[in-house]
Amino acid sequence: MDNKVPPRYFARPPQKFMGGLGLRSQHYPYLLETKPKYCSWFEVISENYMETEGRPIVILEKLRQDFPIALHGVSLSIGSPEPINLEYLIQLKKLLNRVDPFIVSDHFCWTGAHSINSHDLLPIPYTKKNLSLVIEKVNQVQDFLNRPILLENPSAYITFDYNEMVETSFISQVCQKSGCGILLDINNVYVTCNNFNLNPFDYLDQIPIEKIGQIHLAGFTDMGSFLYDTHSNPVHNNVWRLFEYLMNKKWEVPVMIEWDDDIPEFDVLENELLKAIEIQSRVFLNIQNKILTDKNLILDSSTSNSSKLLLES
Ligand SMILES: [Fe+2]
Repeated sequence: MDNKVPPRYFARPPQKFMGGLGLRSQHYPYLLETKPKYCSWFEVISENYMETEGRPIVILEKLRQDFPIALHGVSLSIGSPEPINLEYLIQLKKLLNRVDPFIVSDHFCWTGAHSINSHDLLPIPYTKKNLSLVIEKVNQVQDFLNRPILLENPSAYITFDYNEMVETSFISQVCQKSGCGILLDINNVYVTCNNFNLNPFDYLDQIPIEKIGQIHLAGFTDMGSFLYDTHSNPVHNNVWRLFEYLMNKKWEVPVMIEWDDDIPEFDVLENELLKAIEIQSRVFLNIQNKILTDKNLILDSSTSNSSKLLLES
């Protein structure tokens, strides 16, 4: 099989208001037969398509002919004190060369140690030592892949007494000092802030807006004493509010819906995505109208000033 993506399918970012969905195997048959109504790009879990020549990579390459693809990893373990797994990076780079994604991302987390993979996104203690460690590892990854990556803010259920900074400060400094970007999961922001009694709007205000390269929206499960990031429900109304708040700061960013458990029919996901596209479009139109109104006001005032000057002369 020819592993090279034909030149006409080189990475291209989605257009304005074009939302994406996580590609899940349950929807392969549907997508092979049906053109999506609103979904304009797909995010795939990188590990599911590495070291395989099976059906998933064949279908991914077929979809890649029509859709931009974002690669989202879960095994980089950027927060682990252990060195980056070179074999993993080699496999990831092979996949990059094959798929030519417009985004490559992973998480602010660690996933294991001593060759044990927990298959969980474990929290990083936000210390100065770990800040230096993560920056160094992000630099290594980006140098190896020869491109910047995005890292996703986690959903948090525990915190460390010995944290030396808040999460937003840790994330901001990693981005500033390594050049990586943020995959901002607004559901994770809501879950974390709810679990630790923080204000999610403050969280969004503290994130360097220019570093956001992609947005995740998802649904959580209310466990009574805490919120659990299950990706098994529609996006909560409060998360939509946060999304609209963020859109007013930066609307031109790829947005997608994550749904990983109790996965519904594809059109249910598309209808959820449509809500995001409608909010994004509405914010854009409001901003455009405001710009036009401001321009007209400037024109009006300059016209009346020049008329005044003419009269005076
Ligand atoms: Fe996410």
